[in-house]
Amino acid sequence: MNKITIVGAGRVGETTAQMLAEAELCREVMLVDIREDAPQGVALDVLQTSSFFRFDTRVSGSNDPAAMAGSDLIVVTAGVPRKPGMSRSDVLEVNLGVIDGIVDNALQYAPQAMMLVVSNPVDVLTFRAWQRSGWARGRVFGQAGVLDASRMASFIEMETGFSSRDVTTIVLGGHGDSMVPLPRFCTINGIPIEHFISREKIDAIIKRTRNGGAEILSLRKNSSAYDAPAAAITSMIDAIANNRRRIMPTVAILQGEYGAEKIAMGVPCVLSEVGVELVVDLGLTAEEMALFEASAAAVRADIARL
Ligand code: 2OP
Repeated sequence: MNKITIVGAGRVGETTAQMLAEAELCREVMLVDIREDAPQGVALDVLQTSSFFRFDTRVSGSNDPAAMAGSDLIVVTAGVPRKPGMSRSDVLEVNLGVIDGIVDNALQYAPQAMMLVVSNPVDVLTFRAWQRSGWARGRVFGQAGVLDASRMASFIEMETGFSSRDVTTIVLGGHGDSMVPLPRFCTINGIPIEHFISREKIDAIIKRTRNGGAEILSLRKNSSAYDAPAAAITSMIDAIANNRRRIMPTVAILQGEYGAEKIAMGVPCVLSEVGVELVVDLGLTAEEMALFEASAAAVRADIARL
């Protein structure tokens, strides 16, 4: 990729810029933020790590949305984060105005770009961005499941002591308390986790995964998670920039898959140079489908507020 713009130079935006630059996933990273001087300062700080990490990625910041011109991809991390005790839906109203403004700027300055939405509530904001942009669904998608799955994987690693290299997990549904971790598809080097972990402990891991973001927020107190979110964003961009065709849980616009439409939800998608190349419809069991539908109902309740 030539240029990636990150809108929002907060902690998630900053850490993502650092990771993209280090991995040289594009020639140029542009940070855009409405806070005066903030994106310029963050960009300089990141750029000044280049001699340690030996990257040639150009990193700069701007308060002017026109700076997103020429972007191949726009990553949206802007908006207010939730505070301890709040749900992701509690920040919907404020962040709706934020996403609308960003989409309008993208239409004006970077009409050929793809958009990766990270701000919360991510399912609803991804849906809104898709609706407002009028872009094909493959170009507008969100990050949630890669992070949720990485949290679940880390809990499995903690429980079993096995290598992170061998743990595979899938988490579907909305990025909220009703998300749907799918233990049936979770393995350690291909061996189902049930072989190593009791049902009771798997249930505890599922519960902790659902609560993963809130757990970190309640411990950090003044900040949501940002290291793992930035790593999740970077791994999705790596799949796209390198046209890897990886299967990753992605917030995608559903058009009949999983029996759902007019909604954006976390489902396994093939990520390639075109963005979401394919939505993989897994064929869930009745029990899994009931959980997925309960999660869809929670996302629909927020979409109804648009
Ligand atoms: C998280 O799960 C803030 O949604 C973000 O950490």
